Amino acid sequence: MPVITNIDDLKELYRRRVPKMFYDYAESGSWTEQTFRDNERDFDLIRLRQRVAVDMSGRSTASTMIGEEVALPVALAPVGLTGMQCADGEIKAARAAEKFGVPFTLSTMSICSIEDVAEHTTRPFWFQLYTMKDTDFTSRLIERARAAGCSALVITLDLQILGQRHKDLKNGLSAPPKLTLPVMLDLATKWRWGLEMLGTKRRQFGNIVGHVKGVSDTSSLMAWTAEQFDPALDWGKVAKLMEQWGGKVILKGILDVEDAKKAAELGADAIVVSNHGGRQLDGALSSIRALPAILDAVGDKVEVHLDGGIRSGQDILKAVAMGAQGTYIGRAFVYGLGAMGEAGVTKALEILQREFDLTMAFCGRRRVEEVDRDILLVPEDFEGRWKDWGPRKRRA
Ligand code: GLV
Repeated sequence: MPVITNIDDLKELYRRRVPKMFYDYAESGSWTEQTFRDNERDFDLIRLRQRVAVDMSGRSTASTMIGEEVALPVALAPVGLTGMQCADGEIKAARAAEKFGVPFTLSTMSICSIEDVAEHTTRPFWFQLYTMKDTDFTSRLIERARAAGCSALVITLDLQILGQRHKDLKNGLSAPPKLTLPVMLDLATKWRWGLEMLGTKRRQFGNIVGHVKGVSDTSSLMAWTAEQFDPALDWGKVAKLMEQWGGKVILKGILDVEDAKKAAELGADAIVVSNHGGRQLDGALSSIRALPAILDAVGDKVEVHLDGGIRSGQDILKAVAMGAQGTYIGRAFVYGLGAMGEAGVTKALEILQREFDLTMAFCGRRRVEEVDRDILLVPEDFEGRWKDWGPRKRRA
């Protein structure tokens, strides 16, 4: 077993152990992947201020997200098809999160169903909702999440339609994978993944298959989103969903100050500054660049979280120091899951916690509440000096 010291080590093991189709699914952004790359790269532009001769004893990485205690200001992000990265993947990831003391968010597009995850965990998890044209199905999803004891509904606002990820089209992404010759050749080198998959019955979209009718191909994320997702989702509908749920709501996919204000007005418990991991609008700002303006506009009205590009404890610290109350990891936990199952997710969380803790200490802080913008060195033009064109004049 190689010595694993950072998230990249887990990623390399993950690449070797999981079929290419699912590795590519996780490792893709839309179109040119500019925003996908920027999410990580823009964290690197921020530097940290070293402080010395500060008492570093008695440190803690504990904090809260929407009032829930967290061992580290991190939640596991909703990731579609997690149960294809590793057999029973959502259950394993949820268990690792529970034992570690951070929230797990189950995607609507998961392999293990809401009920399955609830049955195998004790800490209430968060449920991420995609809204469908079939409003009865959306309502049933909300009721299922309630019955499963979910403690928050995470409504995703940036995926009414799917951004194109070239590799998914080329690989013929599906759950379960269709056994074409290239897939079989690839699977021959991923025997551990295959054996574990043969040992589970959870190989389809668990929240969907058996719960809806009239879908042309229930194994295809692309067909499902194109046919079923509600392209007409608007703020009015979001308000109705929030009312129907009645509990804590996190609105995910906010990248613009005006949208953040709207979400705060609606009374969300938190918003997630997110560009969907660079998988939707290619060319959008990275999450960390979009964060400061949103915090300045609504940070006193609503809890602000961030996802996108987090691959280290230093990244978490930078987002928290900027003012985010919490962050989410998607790919970073998927690498661990694909590499080593539940133990790999735990490993990813341990790596991030250790990096966060030591980096916080090097910056002269001992607790998350003490972390503020004072520890950051941010380039003058970090948020970008984007030209304000004003309204376009049209010919009469
Ligand atoms: C779904 O959420 C995706 O980004 O593929």
